[in-house]
Amino acid sequence: MTADISEQILNLKREKGVVILAHNYQRSEVQDVADIVGDSFELALKAKKLEQNTVVFCGVHFMAESCKILAPEKTVLLPAIDAGCPLADTITAEGLRQLKAENPGIPVVTYINSSAAVKAESDYCCTSSNAARVVNAIDSDTVIFAPDANLGSFVQQHTRKKMLLWDGYCIVHQRVLMEEILQIKAVHEDALVIAHPECQPDVVGIADVVCSTSRMIEARNAPGNIVIIVTEEGMLHPLKKAVPNKQFILASPKLVCRNMKKITIDKVLKALETGKNAVKVDPAIAKRALIPLERMLEIGSDIAVN
Ligand code: 13P
Ligand code: SF4
Repeated sequence: MTADISEQILNLKREKGVVILAHNYQRSEVQDVADIVGDSFELALKAKKLEQNTVVFCGVHFMAESCKILAPEKTVLLPAIDAGCPLADTITAEGLRQLKAENPGIPVVTYINSSAAVKAESDYCCTSSNAARVVNAIDSDTVIFAPDANLGSFVQQHTRKKMLLWDGYCIVHQRVLMEEILQIKAVHEDALVIAHPECQPDVVGIADVVCSTSRMIEARNAPGNIVIIVTEEGMLHPLKKAVPNKQFILASPKLVCRNMKKITIDKVLKALETGKNAVKVDPAIAKRALIPLERMLEIGSDIAVN
């Protein structure tokens, strides 16, 4: 059944000249019909370079919205239009304006996990793959960093700048407890721990590597056979494909993002068939939100991107 639907999707996207982008957390069958699978930085960068006029974006709303801002002439379809990001929802444009008013002249770095309206109030965007790099590139001793306080705390360890943090977090990564990882380590002593920087500081503190989702694939070069993965469970699919000789253990069964999973293979087919669920961004907001996104792309990331 799924194989039939996948076949239909592959035919239809070829016929219609549509490109499918998917985040690493998508369901495995959705990743398998995508032309490009990646982390937020890679997907944003690809958005700038697409030849096709229509994109089916398999991810959450802020990702599809960023794609639309970076490539305004394209039609960007989000197969589940209600796939949001609770972390992005922890901050509003009004909230950020207030923080800026309390700290006049301090540049704002906003995680890409945010709405277009929040980006429009920001000086720079960043992703998990380049947050410290972006902060360190700014000519100021102090920066406002929003909305992920865990990512902000991680960056604080890699910069001399003073960081004023917004108090938001990802409900998925926040759930993982250090004890869960220590329990796995008690059985697999030599296992490498790779964590996403959205995890709580004590989890990040015991990880051997802290990085964006795509960078986790560099585990292929790591010593040992067992790797404990501390991020959303969808990441296991690209990891197993790219590194078949290692065993990956998910740190906690709680690591599931319900919003990412709202995109099903049936909804991808429907988006292709109907052309519905196009992402719209107010042009005035999009124009302002493009500035911090483009500054981020110019600064680049630590991973090699083709
Ligand atoms: P990445 O950019 O590392 O893929 O992270 C996106 C995200 O939403 C993590 O929860
Ligand atoms: Fe948002 Fe967290 Fe889901 Fe990533 S995993 S999309 S930050 S809720």
